[in-house]
Amino acid sequence: MAKLIDGLLVSQHIKNIVKNDVSTLLSKGIKPCLATVLVGDNQASATYVKNKQIAASSVGILTRDFRLSQDITQEELSKIIEELNYDENVHGILIQLPLPDQIEPSITNMVRHEKDVDGLTSYNLGLLLEGTPKLIPCTPLGILELLDFYKIDVKGIDVAIINRSNLVGKPLGILLMNRDATVTFFHSKSRGIEDRLKNFDCIITAVGDREKFTLTGNMVKDGAIIFDVGITRINGKIRGDVDFESVSEKASYLTPVPGGVGPMTVTMLLKNTVYATRIINKIDNN
Ligand SMILES: NC(=O)c1ccc[n+]([C@@H]2O[C@H](COP(=O)([O-])OP(=O)(O)OC[C@H]3O[C@@H](n4cnc5c(N)ncnc54)[C@H](OP(=O)(O)O)[C@@H]3O)[C@@H](O)[C@H]2O)c1
Repeated sequence: MAKLIDGLLVSQHIKNIVKNDVSTLLSKGIKPCLATVLVGDNQASATYVKNKQIAASSVGILTRDFRLSQDITQEELSKIIEELNYDENVHGILIQLPLPDQIEPSITNMVRHEKDVDGLTSYNLGLLLEGTPKLIPCTPLGILELLDFYKIDVKGIDVAIINRSNLVGKPLGILLMNRDATVTFFHSKSRGIEDRLKNFDCIITAVGDREKFTLTGNMVKDGAIIFDVGITRINGKIRGDVDFESVSEKASYLTPVPGGVGPMTVTMLLKNTVYATRIINKIDNN
């Protein structure tokens, strides 16, 4: 049976460290503050933002809550981001995705790179490509933390990432390659995924639609390490991409859903907010 990778446990451990870091900043008169920007009334997005705010408060990070109407214009949203960019009391800016269709997705690139706690600006993604990352997208960063906590070395191993988004797959692939893994990306147009996955030592799946793709035990090599990032809502319950029963019989490590990668993503936002606060206040992050 697979060993479960406990995202709640690791999150709590990291939150304790972040809480200490926040106390140190407070003792210098610096109050880390995260601004969250939620556009529209998507229920899932509202829940994510609320959870992020609660988590921030739990470690002493202040939050500013911006809830904007679904029909906000590009210009209006740009103005709000600009104001937050220049607000000395705001250290991190989170723009909850997805945004409505009238907003250019590239608007996230307007966030000042020092406050880009989601790590999605061209600047921060560029640093990641160069191998000198600063603010790293939260989900990939959370997976690296899980690998470190469980002392899983990816050097030389074959990793399959089923996702190629800027938020998850691409940055994660670069980060793992920088750790000397051999990385292959799969996506909706890839052929023969089911048969090919058996060749991989580690599979990271982030599809989020179990009807389109579910990872089952017969696709998994004995002893493979599995990270389940995908989220599908079924009858109000959250499920991952993985068929837990069959995969847990084959894998050596497996992240459950819920309680695996999800809590890490939220905790990495807190870690990034402290990191951003230090950058802005010219305090060494090493
Ligand atoms: N647990 C967490 O903390 C966390 C954090 C972030 C995201 N997520 C979840 O992770 C999932 C992905 O998020 P995202 O923002 O990256 O979404 P996304 O951009 O929609 O990515 C989905 C990926 O799955 C691929 N895909 C779709 N159908 C497929 C199929 N049949 N076979 C193989 N690949 C297929 C897509 O390929 P194409 O590129 O060809 O379309 C795409 O690369 C979502 O469920 C999201 O909710 C969870």
